[in-house]
Amino acid sequence: MTYMERCRERLPELQQKEKVRILAIESSCDETAAAVIENGRVILSNAVFTQIPLHAVYGGVVPEIASRAHVDAVDRMVDWALKEASMTMNEIDAIGVTCGPGLVGALLTGVSCAKALAFALDKPLIPVNHIEGHICANYLTSPELEPPFICLVASGGHSHILMVEDYGVYRLLGCTQDDAAGEAFDKAARVLHLPYPGGPLLDKLSHEGNPNALTLPRPRTPGKYDFSFSGLKTAFINAVHNMEQKGIDIEAQKADLAASFQHAVVSSLLEKTMDAALASHVKRLALAGGVSANSGLRAAFEQACQKAGITLYMPRLNLCGDNAAMIGSAAYYRLKRGELADLSLNAKPALRLV
Ligand code: KG4
Ligand code: ZN
Repeated sequence: MTYMERCRERLPELQQKEKVRILAIESSCDETAAAVIENGRVILSNAVFTQIPLHAVYGGVVPEIASRAHVDAVDRMVDWALKEASMTMNEIDAIGVTCGPGLVGALLTGVSCAKALAFALDKPLIPVNHIEGHICANYLTSPELEPPFICLVASGGHSHILMVEDYGVYRLLGCTQDDAAGEAFDKAARVLHLPYPGGPLLDKLSHEGNPNALTLPRPRTPGKYDFSFSGLKTAFINAVHNMEQKGIDIEAQKADLAASFQHAVVSSLLEKTMDAALASHVKRLALAGGVSANSGLRAAFEQACQKAGITLYMPRLNLCGDNAAMIGSAAYYRLKRGELADLSLNAKPALRLV
């Protein structure tokens, strides 16, 4: 019998098992992470090694450096995750791994490690879409959350509004036509001379600023629920450059500029997502992705959802950014659906969710 035949034969038993523990690996961008997750909902361990200091000197992620750093860290993260969960390799039921979207070299590290473990341990290999992982971070934070619900995924590379119809079943309602929200935050932060990744720092700075200090254009999009952040970003960068050319001290205006930009991005995300939620009549709304850590976004959605009688779900702050716990949750629901990969699994840099 081949590896795959053995996995398929044992699958029904595994799907019925009372406690399924998945070792998950995430390496799509600049975090090397491993976690052990029980039944898609309980975090037994969650180890994250962030490479941010390695990339910050270059002002963004350098793919070659990311790949090498993943190779260096992935084994350590796996060992750490198992140790923290007080488990041995053999007690793991399956291996889940992010296979896309992301940087090809970075993804390959996690995928190769997961394939080697799956083959050596003779355990199933479950491929996970990174965006799906972000959505599933909500299952780890809110045990009562079940589909259907509307989800706004806003990260460094993606801005989507999705209808989560069932576990693993998604319908795209809208997405960005150009830049992702996180990317726009990082570019805006850069002109304010904040180090990479500037999103969290811009968020912090905006607490002290006036969100109405600078008027920014409202993006126009073809689809009702689509986003566009490129025009907003360019208008912001031009406004800052104009101020500099006029000799205005940017340092003194930084907080107002940050608050104005954050307000513009949050308003756009809020308006489109609430429109989609209200039109869907689904009374549950979740936020996901790195940008869901944004304090202005969380506060705006809390207020709007309360007013609209919609229950809001948000990942805990340490689960908003990239981590392997969310991949372990997504992997569990893929396993339930019998979606296993064979050992030809490859990195898929442009993998789509829908
Ligand atoms: O989901 P994530 O960790 O990685 C991707 O899958 O892209 O998202 C990272 C993005 C970065 O652009 C980062 O600046 C942004 O999320 N981000 C924030 C905040 N925390 C992280 N943006 C705004 N406010 C924050 N508090
Ligand atoms: Zn991510």
